[in-house]
Amino acid sequence: MENFTFHNPTRLHFGRGQIAKLAQEIPATARVLLLAGGGSIKRNGVYEQTRAALAGRTVFEHFGVEANPDYRTLMGAVELCRRERVEWVLPVGGGSVLDGAKFVAAAVHFSGEPWEILAKRLSTLPHALPIGAVLTLPATGSEANGAAVISRRETKEKLAFISPDVYPRFSILDPETTYSLPARQIANGIGDAFAHVIEQYLTFPADAAVQDRFAEGVLQTLIEVGPRTLAHPTDAAARGNLVWAATCALNGWIGVGVPQDWSTHMIGHELTALHDIDHARTLAIVLPSLLHVQRETKRGKLLQYAARVWGITEGSDDARIDAAIARTRAFYESIGIKTRLSDYGVSIETAAEVARRLAARGVVRLGERGDITPAKVEQILRLAA
Ligand code: NZQ
Ligand code: ZN
Repeated sequence: MENFTFHNPTRLHFGRGQIAKLAQEIPATARVLLLAGGGSIKRNGVYEQTRAALAGRTVFEHFGVEANPDYRTLMGAVELCRRERVEWVLPVGGGSVLDGAKFVAAAVHFSGEPWEILAKRLSTLPHALPIGAVLTLPATGSEANGAAVISRRETKEKLAFISPDVYPRFSILDPETTYSLPARQIANGIGDAFAHVIEQYLTFPADAAVQDRFAEGVLQTLIEVGPRTLAHPTDAAARGNLVWAATCALNGWIGVGVPQDWSTHMIGHELTALHDIDHARTLAIVLPSLLHVQRETKRGKLLQYAARVWGITEGSDDARIDAAIARTRAFYESIGIKTRLSDYGVSIETAAEVARRLAARGVVRLGERGDITPAKVEQILRLAA
């Protein structure tokens, strides 16, 4: 395990009725921007609960943040914040709304062109407005981390920035607010959280016993409660465990001091930018092929994953690795997420295109050992055809 300093400043309020905590978290005199998506919060009671808890504050609203939040939409919110001297940003929705809020909070008092935050991947944003979040979709972990992914459709870009300055000060996780989610979004959440754990765990052994066992526990929880919550959307125990698993998958705990490999996400973001495929579905396309191509560098951890997560202990090393990769693919398929490019009507030509786009941005050494070159990216996507 490498040296690390761990600090996660987000206070989490979990459980039924917790939206009322907004009243104690946001100062009574604050000027607040309520940021939201396409309107799901108006149909499931979350909006009313939020407004009631904010009573007395000066609240401005900006709806219309789309899935894979777009720079242009968000700049409208930035202008509103500047005009109205907004002091707090309150995203109410899924990861897209939360990520959008991080960008807005960072951009309001940013002196240059705000796209630079993404293009230059800035990590120091000291003038960012404070953020508090109400999460309605368990998936991204955005409620408890400093990351945001923003799309720019006019240039077909999808870029991320990570900064300690945009961690939510607090987040509210009431699993009941997620009951209104369609099965497609629940499946996306399960699949996204699964990949988040894998990318911090499935690298090479690093003598990090707690992180490994924690990662394996979150994976097994997703395997157990994922199908259950899809079959029984209002089973409170299953849904509550999914919500907490998704947060734990990307709040930093399992990734401290260990090698990480975010190449599945980096490649996946290109597929979303080019073909508008849901984020989690791009991960399901890339991950099994990537594990196959990287089976030598990941050998030790693949065998550990096979044994501890899937209980695969019989057969040769290679047979157990093949079986673990097959189980991974089958898990995605079992929750209704297809794992081939062709399932989404995407042709093999995209493999070279994605490799070219990453290379053009200087992204040429992905993976925990920096050995995933553009040529390998192409190989991985060809295998995913
Ligand atoms: O817009 P509304 O009407 O709210 O509808 C949304 C949207 O259509 C709907 N929804 C959300 N909560 C609902 C609901 N519908 C009914 N009931 C509810 N309770 O779900 C749809 C998808 O929402 P979205 O926020 O886009 O989904 P998700 O949470 O999966 O976020 C995906 C975005 O997060 C980024 C992805 O790249 C993508 O842009 N990520 C952010 C990360 C981070 N900040 O750490 C890490 C992830 O790897 C990921 O890259
Ligand atoms: Zn993700």
